[in-house]
Amino acid sequence: MAPAATISTEDLIPEVLQALDKSDQDSISSADAFPAVPFETMKAILDRLTSRSMTTYKQVDTEEAVLEPEAETIVSHGSHEARVFEAVHQAMEGLSIQDLEKAIGDKTVTKMGQGKAFKEKWIKKDGDKLVAITDSITDVTRDQLKVIQETKTHDPKIINELKKRKLIRIQKSFSFRIAKGDKFALEMVKEETDLTAEMLASGSWKTATFKPYNFEALGADQHAGALHPLGKVRGEFRQIFFEMGFKEMPTSQFVESGFWNFDTLFVPQQHPARDLQDTFYISDPKTADRPGPEDENDKRNYAEYFENVREVHENGKYGSIGYRYPWAEDESLRLVLRTHTTSTSASMLYKLASESRNGQSPPVRYFSIDRVFRNESVDATHLCEFHQVEGVIGDYGLTLGGLMEFMQIFFEKMGVTNLKFKPAYNPYTEPSMEIFSYHEGLGKLIEIGNSGMFRPEMLEAMGLPSDYKVYGFGLSLERPTMIKYGISNIRELLGHGVNLNVIEKSAAVRLDKD
Ligand code: PHE
Repeated sequence: MAPAATISTEDLIPEVLQALDKSDQDSISSADAFPAVPFETMKAILDRLTSRSMTTYKQVDTEEAVLEPEAETIVSHGSHEARVFEAVHQAMEGLSIQDLEKAIGDKTVTKMGQGKAFKEKWIKKDGDKLVAITDSITDVTRDQLKVIQETKTHDPKIINELKKRKLIRIQKSFSFRIAKGDKFALEMVKEETDLTAEMLASGSWKTATFKPYNFEALGADQHAGALHPLGKVRGEFRQIFFEMGFKEMPTSQFVESGFWNFDTLFVPQQHPARDLQDTFYISDPKTADRPGPEDENDKRNYAEYFENVREVHENGKYGSIGYRYPWAEDESLRLVLRTHTTSTSASMLYKLASESRNGQSPPVRYFSIDRVFRNESVDATHLCEFHQVEGVIGDYGLTLGGLMEFMQIFFEKMGVTNLKFKPAYNPYTEPSMEIFSYHEGLGKLIEIGNSGMFRPEMLEAMGLPSDYKVYGFGLSLERPTMIKYGISNIRELLGHGVNLNVIEKSAAVRLDKD
């Protein structure tokens, strides 16, 4: 089957230009000149011509009154009451109701017309007959409808009245007022898109018409790789950390010994966090070597540190009474998928302690953002793995108030204000605080982080001076990412359920905006 005939824009362009040229008015109306051309087609043509300044145009939205079928009949045959009058008037002797109905041939017209004709005092009853009282009438409704049929409009009062009587309806129509532009011509010249060497050589560039740049055009889809939302938010966090003078810790190691993940952090060996239900243990190999030098330049006394950790757990040291249980080396050497990046913070602090000169340690600011693993049941907000944003600040004279102030400044940089702190417990920090923020969208306080001041049992065992204090804090990268991107199910963010289209189209994030 041949496609339905469509009006091509190419054919219409010269017609529009000619219509403008021939018109003795300043402008023409597309509704008058091209009533059959669909709105969208006309708009496409005018956009093209206008982009070359050949025309200008304005969209005109108008309301037109249109006759309903009943009104069309009235225009051709007269109103009901007029028809009744004519029939009665023609019959010299008057008409019975039955004869009137026969003469008109329509029950409704007869019935409705009669009532009105009585009211208008055109007819009256004479015995059982209807007789005309006057010789001529004016059929007002018909006259009004005729005007509307021709001009599409009338006095607003009349329009309203006829609308109420369901004789007309109002129809919106869109058209254009078109005028000549600065560069009006009868032909659309070919526009050059490039300035070529030939044009320069021949000098034809002087008279050529160049196509203006369209800065609004979307670029072609590159099908290139895209950053994952978690990567974007991670980038923002890194920027904040760098801006605040932090150094990034090397965290690219998912497997740790229990020693670094738990024991150095003063987590007792019977702590529930170390249960199989909470922590993934490695089955092959099962255990690590005792902690030892990283290379031949590493002169640290690991054996001493190992013994310090054992002693502080078993009997206490550095003013602590310890946990008073038999500390097992085997347990300490079991390999785990790290449950937090605090294992790296511990190893960095141990490094700091061993690099200190004359018992003095410099102030430090470390951060990391990397993956951690916990044996959790998976639901809308929990997976077995997530990313932890962690920061550590070490210096003399640090106080809890300073940590609170730091957290406020840090979170404010990502647009999170009005923090609340709640006392909490971590084996490795005292005091410890959970950090909450009021979430406008959810209408409640939500936990956004965990923090505290590392215990002397942890720091002094490493060899840090007793008056050297360290803040630590951790939060998940997933939570702010889900909030920023309006994702309610974590499985849409991470894992096999992720929709790559969503990832590709996800906006760049600015934590401090919105
Ligand atoms: N390790 C803690 C967590 O996983 C975060 C934290 C780090 C808390 C450092 C205090 C100090 O939630």
